[in-house]
Amino acid sequence: MKKEIAFIFDLDGVIVDTAKYHFLAWRNLAKELGFEFTQEHNELLKGVSRVKSLEILLGIGNVEISEEEKQKYLIQKNEEYLGFVNKMTAEEILPGVSNLLDYLDSKNIIYALGSASKNAPLILEKVGLYNRFAALVDGNDVSKAKPDPEVFLIGAKKLQMKPENCVVVEDAIAGVEAAKLANMTCVGIGSKEVLGKADFVFDDMTGFTTEFLNKLIN
Ligand code: BG6
Ligand code: MG
Repeated sequence: MKKEIAFIFDLDGVIVDTAKYHFLAWRNLAKELGFEFTQEHNELLKGVSRVKSLEILLGIGNVEISEEEKQKYLIQKNEEYLGFVNKMTAEEILPGVSNLLDYLDSKNIIYALGSASKNAPLILEKVGLYNRFAALVDGNDVSKAKPDPEVFLIGAKKLQMKPENCVVVEDAIAGVEAAKLANMTCVGIGSKEVLGKADFVFDDMTGFTTEFLNKLIN
């Protein structure tokens, strides 16, 4: 028998690769504060809110600053990041994503966005995907960051779907944890070692073959 299911997609690292832009902006801030910020450090910020990312960065550099300075740096970092985001086009949609969305549309399967990013609506607009989602939940809508399941539970509610009938697609450990805490099926995008708690793990979004999708739906 056919199950009614819906998808909830993370944005950064799933739909588009914005980690490289976050990295450039955080690295410049670290440089200004007098320490080095590496690609390895950047991994720690995946799926993490902007405020928490700054806390982690300051911890790496062992730097203590005032609340006022933190606010200033958060704005400065975001302005630099937006400089990159504003140049984004549909070419930056990750391989496999457009085919997957076309497939879901063809089967009348609805999907939402469930992202920690406050810039999510702008990014979707830039890459031409804003109007395709039945619902959007982003960093402006949540009070508790991933791994709290709030973002995905709001997504399910907006889609009017039961959590157990939702499939979350995530590239961050915190996101996979959030999906499982929400009692949803989770597809991890990345390495099996890192995303071991997900129900299925693919190296990238091209892992969503028609065969896999048919198995999931039927
Ligand atoms: C997540 C990213 O999607 O959004 C994190 O994985 C980022 O790296 C977070 O810190 C918040 O993004 P923004 O756009 O609100 O600064
Ligand atoms: Mg992500």
